[in-house]
Amino acid sequence: MKAFIFDLDGVLVFTDKYHYQGWKMIADKLGIPFDEKVNNRLRGVSRMESLEIILENYDKELTQEEKEKLAEEKNDFYRGLLGNMTPSDVADEVRSTLAELKKRGHKLAIGSSSKNTKFILEKTDLTDVFDAISDGTNIEKSKPDPEVFLKAAEFLSEEPSNCIVVEDAFSGVDAAKAGGMVAVGIGDASGYEKTDFPIKSFKELLDIEA
Ligand code: BG6
Ligand code: MG
Repeated sequence: MKAFIFDLDGVLVFTDKYHYQGWKMIADKLGIPFDEKVNNRLRGVSRMESLEIILENYDKELTQEEKEKLAEEKNDFYRGLLGNMTPSDVADEVRSTLAELKKRGHKLAIGSSSKNTKFILEKTDLTDVFDAISDGTNIEKSKPDPEVFLKAAEFLSEEPSNCIVVEDAFSGVDAAKAGGMVAVGIGDASGYEKTDFPIKSFKELLDIEA
């Protein structure tokens, strides 16, 4: 029986719009151009790496301390937005598919770069659905490094080859493949050539035979 490891942002919940608002606030403050195209590059990568991507368009050098202050400011704003999330932010299709996978005996885990993972899972009432949570708080390297997924497999006591990763980010698909796992791509990642199983809707997970 295969285990499933789910990315969080963009797969189970749609927090991208909140990340966008948070980073836009910082970019506007510094006078840096920021749009959806730049925001798409932030998917799956850590908070500090996201800031570095945004600062590519900034002509001044910032100290590490200044960068950390900006990242903290973004996160405070972002967490304020997350605070308004409720269980209704998880689509019925997502909740019922997770329940059915569990019923069929699959182990389920989270593999997310976010340090806000546990907060988001609590707000949306998803915590108890998962057998293990691997997130930004237990890794050194973020996607496309496979560390977050390898840790999830370890927490589940599963071999990586027995794990199916569900991802919306190219960097996440790369991480899954680097970890020797099967990669299911949804959203953006459904159009990525390295994805093993592209899906258009979440419930298609019930038809995957890997
Ligand atoms: C990932 C998002 O899940 O988490 C990235 O796709 C984000 O966009 C990363 O940068 C880190 O999130 P956080 O919540 O730790 O700032
Ligand atoms: Mg994602």
